Amino acid sequence: MRVEFKELETVSDPRGHLVSIEVGRSIPFPVRRVYYIYGNKDGKPRGYHAHKRVKQALICLNGRLKVGVDDGKTRTVYELKSPRELLIIPEMIWRVMYGFSPDAILLVLADQHYDEADYIRDYETFLQAVREKTPPGGAPR
Ligand code: TYD
Repeated sequence: MRVEFKELETVSDPRGHLVSIEVGRSIPFPVRRVYYIYGNKDGKPRGYHAHKRVKQALICLNGRLKVGVDDGKTRTVYELKSPRELLIIPEMIWRVMYGFSPDAILLVLADQHYDEADYIRDYETFLQAVREKTPPGGAPR
């Protein structure tokens, strides 16, 4: 699983906290798009897709939520519950965001502009694409 969960360095003083995210340091890709999700209704889940090429970094700025990630072989759940936590999701990872607290604000940084053609929204199609990419006997070392 190539997903990475990181604790971001925080500069704290009596006035509060400051977190800085630097491209090439905290995030291993250029950022070409920023979007955020908030006002989640009744904890309704989102996602249920993978991206063919787009890489993303997720930060829960307020509240909490869970992110289930699946590379076609292994599933892992991360809980984002602090603006100090960064979850990096590379391409070809199926993801589901759920368990949103009503006050959750999820910030997403992406390396490419929005393009619906980059989405795989069908799980079986995703698994098929993973199988086609993995040579028999597993991934090369
Ligand atoms: P989607 O990525 O499916 O959201 P989620 O995975 O959180 O459920 O996007 C929801 C809708 O918003 C879809 O119609 C596409 C649109 N959208 C944009 O217009 N620009 C964007 O950058 C994103 C991420 C989505």
